[in-house]
Amino acid sequence: MIGLIGAMSVEIEALEGRLEEREETRIGMHRFVSGRLFGHEAVLAVCGPGKVNAALCAQAMILRFQPEWVLNLGVAGSGESGVGIGDMVIADAAVQHDMDTSPLGDPPGYVSMVGLTEFPCDADLAARLLRAAGKVEGMRVHRGIVATGDQFIHSAEQRTRIHDLFRAKAVEMEGAAVAHACLMNGTPCAILRSISDNADGGSDMDYPAFVTLAAAHSQRVVGSLLTEEAAQ
Ligand code: ADE
Repeated sequence: MIGLIGAMSVEIEALEGRLEEREETRIGMHRFVSGRLFGHEAVLAVCGPGKVNAALCAQAMILRFQPEWVLNLGVAGSGESGVGIGDMVIADAAVQHDMDTSPLGDPPGYVSMVGLTEFPCDADLAARLLRAAGKVEGMRVHRGIVATGDQFIHSAEQRTRIHDLFRAKAVEMEGAAVAHACLMNGTPCAILRSISDNADGGSDMDYPAFVTLAAAHSQRVVGSLLTEEAAQ
């Protein structure tokens, strides 16, 4: 069983449409659909935006379905100028850019108890996603830090701050929360994001224009990864 989590329906509905032998399970307000996806046992969920929605969804998914790994896929704002709309970002690790106990002497983003700033993603899964994304013609693929927070980033100042602190290639609202839940349960995870906007003053215009296309991009990469791995 593999687990796929998107924040919004548009981020998983193309994959959900390919799910066979589907079964629905509700846990609290989250709906999980499981079945066969390109030859793999899979469970999919829309977690809703933000870190708490994402962590709750990942935790429930892990406890109920015990997935081998969990992938958070969807769209993101660009974290730096070399990463453009339509590009793909695959996380090596994710940070919670709005976690801040620095007045108490901790580094920005540091999460006490876990004792980490960067939540690691599974290197092997990231490499497999990178290979799958690299095969999509014309797609530019980046690998690095994804920064997560409970804010839609829409100014050059906010984006620069996050980049200066964490070297983020993409900014979004769920990835590090999924990675956090996965780490606490010993479940490998990955984050795959396609860029819908530049997280600057134009992002309120760019996001609605490109969200559907960007969401389709990341689902296409997952589809090709699963198809290829089922054939092996
Ligand atoms: N997801 C897509 N674009 C985003 C942005 N600019 N900020 C946060 N999450 C996003």
